[in-house]
Amino acid sequence: MEQASFRVFETNLVSDLYAKGRPTYDDKIVKHIIGSILTKIKGEKHELMVEVACGSGQATNVLAPYFHNVFATDVSESQIALAKAGNQFDHIKYQVGSAEEIDVKDASADLLVAAESVQFFDLDKFFSEVRRVLKPGGCFAVIGYVHPNVTPITSNGVQRQLTASLTNAVKNTIIDNIGKKLVPIYYEVQNGYPKIFEAMPAKQKLKEYFHCIYDTWKLKNVCDFVNSAILLKCPDETFPIDSENKRVEVLNAFVSNVSQMLESSEISPDSVTSYEADYKMTVITASEFE
Ligand SMILES: C[S@@+](CC[C@H](N)C(=O)[O-])C[C@H]1O[C@@H](n2cnc3c(N)ncnc32)[C@H](O)[C@@H]1O
Repeated sequence: MEQASFRVFETNLVSDLYAKGRPTYDDKIVKHIIGSILTKIKGEKHELMVEVACGSGQATNVLAPYFHNVFATDVSESQIALAKAGNQFDHIKYQVGSAEEIDVKDASADLLVAAESVQFFDLDKFFSEVRRVLKPGGCFAVIGYVHPNVTPITSNGVQRQLTASLTNAVKNTIIDNIGKKLVPIYYEVQNGYPKIFEAMPAKQKLKEYFHCIYDTWKLKNVCDFVNSAILLKCPDETFPIDSENKRVEVLNAFVSNVSQMLESSEISPDSVTSYEADYKMTVITASEFE
C-alpha cells in the first residue's frame, strides 16, 4: 500500500497542545499487548521494546515497566524534548529518528510499538523495518483512535441523548480545521485501519477494539482535545487556521455550539458536573512479518 510520510508535529506549539490534550493508554490495552508477547516468548523476560513516533511518551511510560530496555524515537525534536521532560524511568532511551529507519540491530526487539502514528508513515519502508527489527516471535503493536464520544453528566445523571450531537461537534470542528490531506487519514483511523491492516505483511495479525473512558472531564478537557487536533496540517498545505486569533475563534465557536446544544435540550450549562469521554481504540497485534 502506497502511503507517503507526513511531518505534522514539528513545532513547540503543536507539541505542547498535543501533550496537554491527548490520552495515555489504559491497563486493558497494556495487558493485551504484553499478553500477546507472553504467548509467543514463553517464560522469557522481555529485553527490548522499540517505539516509533513516541510523541510525548503516551504509550512509552505505560509499557516501559514490562521491559529491561526501551528505545523510543520520534521524528520531531519538539516531541522528543517533551517526552524526555516527562520520562518516568531510567531504562528509557529517547532519540530523534524516523520510523522508516530505526537505529537498532536486526532481530533485537521483543515488541515494536506505533501508537496513534502508523497512519503517518511511508508504509512500505516502515514494514521493512518492522520485519528487520523484530526478534523471531516478537510482536508488532499498533494503537489508534480519533475523537472520543462525549456525553454530558448533570446532577440528574448521564445525558446520553446528547452524545451524538456533542461527539459530532468535536469531530466536525476537527475535520473542518485540519489540513485537507489529513482528512482521509482521519477516516482510516476512525474505521479501525482497514487499509493498513489489509496491507500489513504479517502471517499472524489480530485486530481488537477497547474503550478508554474518562468520566470526570470538564469542558476544558474537551477543548484541550479539540485544540490538540485542529493545528495539524502538512507543511505544503494551506490551512483554515492561520493565526493564534483564528485558533481561539474556532475554540470559542465550539464552546458556544456546545452551550446551545445543552440549552436546546433544556440543560443549563451550569448544571453539567462533568463529561464522559469514551475513546474507542483500535489495537492491532501482528507477528511473523514476511
Ligand atoms: C499523533 S502523534 C502520536 C504520539 C504518541 N505515540 C501517542 O500515542 O499519542 C504522531 C507522532 O508521529 C510522529 N511521526 C510522524 N511521522 C513520523 C515518521 N515518519 N517517523 C517517526 N515519527 C513520525 C510525529 O512527530 C508525532 O509525534
